[in-house]
This record gives sequence, C-alpha cells and structure tokens, in this order.
Amino acid sequence: MTIPMVKYTGVTKTFGDREVLTGIDLDIAAGEKVAIIGPSGSGKTTMGRMLMTLEEPTSGTIEIDGVHLWHMSKKDRLVRANEKHLHEMRGNVGMVFQHFNLFPHRTVLQNVTEAPRRVLKLSKEEAEERAIEMLRKVGLYDKLADYPAQLSGGQKQRVAMARALVMRPKVMVFDEVTSALDPELVGEVLEVIREIADEGEMAMMLITHEMDFAKEIADRVLFCADGNIVEEGTPEAIFEYPQTDRLQSFLKRFRSAVYSMA
Ligand SMILES: Nc1ncnc2c1ncn2[C@@H]1O[C@H](COP(=O)(O)OP(=O)(O)OP(=O)(O)O)[C@@H](O)[C@H]1O
Ligand SMILES: [Mg+2]
Repeated sequence: MTIPMVKYTGVTKTFGDREVLTGIDLDIAAGEKVAIIGPSGSGKTTMGRMLMTLEEPTSGTIEIDGVHLWHMSKKDRLVRANEKHLHEMRGNVGMVFQHFNLFPHRTVLQNVTEAPRRVLKLSKEEAEERAIEMLRKVGLYDKLADYPAQLSGGQKQRVAMARALVMRPKVMVFDEVTSALDPELVGEVLEVIREIADEGEMAMMLITHEMDFAKEIADRVLFCADGNIVEEGTPEAIFEYPQTDRLQSFLKRFRSAVYSMA
C-alpha cells in the first residue's frame, strides 16, 4: 500500500464554542491535485492553515508523507509535537494566500531568498541561485531588483509563489490566490499554477472559486460545507453530476452569480 502524501484523520477544529471542522478524513496522493470548493465559512482555509502549522487541530491527526505533523511518537505513544518538530515538518508545505504579504522594504530577490537563507541555512549564493531559478519560472526574471510597491498585483502574487516554491515543498496549498486580483491579472497567476501542476511531482490543494480552472487542473474536487467534506469526485462528477442537494444548490447559485456579472 502506498502512503498518501497528506492524510487527515478525524480532524476537528473548534473556535470558542463553534466547531468549524467536524471530523475531516482526507487522503491526498503524491502528485495529486485536489481542488476544494464550498461556501464561505465552510472551513476551507482552516484546513489549509492546519497543514501549514498555522492552526492546531482540536482533535484528530494529520500526517505528511507518513509522518505525524502535530504529534510525535514517544515510547509508542503519540504526544503533542514540540516546536522543533513543527518547524521541521513545516518545510514540507508551501502556502500561498489571497494577500501576498511580501516584505515591502526588500527587493523581489531578497523576498525569495529570505527563507532559504534563514530556514535552510543556504549561503547567499546558493539561495540566490535557487531564487533566480524560481523567479524565472514565474516570469519575473527582469524584476529581481524591484520592490513590491513597483509591481502589479499579479506580479506580487507570482513573487509569493516563487517564495513558497523555492523551499521545494512536497505539498502546496493555494488559498484563493486570485480573488484579490483585478480580473485582467487572474490569467497570469493561474497560468503559473497550471505550469507547476503540469510538472506533476507536487501534491496540491487548491482552494478556489475559479470553477473552470478547478475543472481543468484537478484530479479530484472536494465540496466542503458546514465543516466537512460533503461530496467528492472527479471534476466531471462534481460539476456535471452533483449528487447532494447542498452541492446542486451551491453550483446553481454560483452559476447564476457568474452569469449576472457577465
Ligand atoms: N482564528 C479564528 N478565530 C475564530 N474563528 C475563526 C478563526 N478562523 C476562522 N474562524 C471561523 O471559522 C469558520 C471557517 O473559516 P474559514 O476561513 O476556514 O472558512 P472558508 O471556507 O475558508 O471561508 P471563505 O470562503 O470565506 O474563505 C468561519 O466561521 C470563521 O469565522
Ligand atoms: Mg477561506
């Protein structure tokens, strides 16, 4: 049996007295591209943030490539992970958010070399070599010396992607990375995701409202609602043959919203 790259088992999350995730079970295979759709507040971002070690599950476990993320084994018992373990595990995951959060007083190149130098302890030369390779990949080789304020939203988002990819994660989480962009800048960002997806090796969680894009690149689509995965399947199954009332009405509402904007 092959080990999944990502495995959630009975994962719950409670904020105050609200259970926002109610027991997520999810396996993502190495190289698999999973799109996550669903209404606002259904817990999609929380799922991604847990993988990035930004949010701790209330109960349940998450494994990355067969190793517990939030726990470690001690005398055959699972105990809460310490900061060192979390730090090591975090290196397996890259996340890109809706808002890019670049360092405003550092150049594009400095933004991308920061983590390889600080976290991976690479020399300046090694970090720059890797960073330049990534910035070339996202089409920003000519912007190395620019500051974030000099870039368009789409370019900033591509720097944020290079900054995550330069760490060579096993899993990438993209959380609504195009929703803060002007419509004409969405395409260039999706194009970069498409290229990364086509390379194949990385597992990807793509939280998105871009249904056509999800359909095109995902191996599997998860529909989340009310804190759990309500329906999952191939893009064709989810978009063409939704089974639950919940998904049918979500897609209907979504489509009428898109048509009314057109
Ligand atoms: N740090 C927090 N403290 C309290 N409540 C939170 C926190 N983070 C998220 N929540 C709540 O948890 C629920 C799920 O939030 P989450 O951001 O995961 O939803 P989402 O599916 O990503 O929604 P959207 O599509 O709007 O991005 C929401 O009701 C939200 O208000
Ligand atoms: Mg969200």
